[in-house]
Amino acid sequence: MTERMPNRDAAVLNLPNVLEVRGLNVHIATDDGELCAVADAAFSVRDGETLALVGESGAGKSMTALAVMRLAQSAAIRVSGEILLRTGEGEPLNLLALNAPAIRAVRGRLASMVFQEPMTSLNPVLRVGDQIAEAIVAHEAIGWPAARARALDLLRLVGIADAPARSRTFPHELSGGMRQRVMIAIALACRPRLLIADEPTTALDVTVQAQVLALIRSLQKELGMAVLFITHDLGVVAQIADRVAVMYAGRIVEEAPVRDLFAAPRHPYTQGLLRSMPNAGRAARSHRIAPIPGSMPSLARLPLGCAFHPRCERAEPGRCDAGVPALEAIGDLRAVRCWRWREPALAAAENG
Ligand SMILES: Nc1ncnc2c1ncn2[C@@H]1O[C@H](COP(=O)(O)OP(=O)(O)OP(=O)(O)O)[C@@H](O)[C@H]1O
Ligand code: SF4
Ligand SMILES: [Mg+2]
Repeated sequence: MTERMPNRDAAVLNLPNVLEVRGLNVHIATDDGELCAVADAAFSVRDGETLALVGESGAGKSMTALAVMRLAQSAAIRVSGEILLRTGEGEPLNLLALNAPAIRAVRGRLASMVFQEPMTSLNPVLRVGDQIAEAIVAHEAIGWPAARARALDLLRLVGIADAPARSRTFPHELSGGMRQRVMIAIALACRPRLLIADEPTTALDVTVQAQVLALIRSLQKELGMAVLFITHDLGVVAQIADRVAVMYAGRIVEEAPVRDLFAAPRHPYTQGLLRSMPNAGRAARSHRIAPIPGSMPSLARLPLGCAFHPRCERAEPGRCDAGVPALEAIGDLRAVRCWRWREPALAAAENG
């Protein structure tokens, strides 16, 4: 695994926020009652920075991303909070307050999303070049011939050889890696300020995955985008992220610069994730590899108190199963949601 681990914490603090999320809640009405897929989420992504959102399946990562893009909208879903997108010098856009035409104008032009499964988000009956050109025509005063020419440039930008021939193919004629590149080309068509990538490499083999990650990094550098990168894979986090937010059962439980998170995880869940990964960092290497016992609870039946307590080896009866801990700031760049993070046992775990 190539560990990127950048060292730019101080510089990060001075960058302007492109995305700022405050008090985000996503409630879903289900047959089992209402569940809270995202609870009081707060995070920001700065100019040119990559924030990784990490956690096991069902943590609420995709729902967070969909809520930011205003795509988590159905009669059963209720989204509240503040989602601010800063795209220039003026006041940021409050995405939850925008009407339907205004949010459509934001999507694709200012903020784009690459979805987990490209086959479900590409149009199967439209040639890929036309799908990219369509994304450009939708947002810019530009004719189809010019948009098609830009589509070819984008295909080249995402590393697709023989762009003219590839642009005339249909999605099913391309490999998984090629389809993912096409999705990225569509997402980048209008040079967005914010790119949300939801597990964009999960379906790909390791070599293609490394190529796609390198591609996102280089395009981010070239275009100066803020990137929210969703994954359950800490190996991918090490390669792509500047900062990390760890999510468990709908809540962010730890946030830290990537280097600090790998070297000294504070939350028992993060420590467990690292111990379950081969080669994921200093804290992991100093322990034998051991999966976290149990599994994430159903969001419809969350345990009382800290939702991690049934799996947590540090859980303290009467405290951890009684109240939900707040996300506590540790300095400017770190935060942790655990009643016991200050206690020596957890500090010892940090240092391996
Ligand atoms: N339309 C829906 N109706 C009911 N529950 C839903 C719906 N969409 C998501 N959920 C629930 O919300 C929770 C969060 O789902 P989400 O897709 O955000 O998880 P995730 O962290 O992205 O997981 P994965 O790693 O598997 O993609 C899950 O428990 C899921 O069952
Ligand atoms: S609050 Fe308690 S149960 Fe939750 S992570 Fe911390 S020690 Fe474990
Ligand atoms: Mg998901």
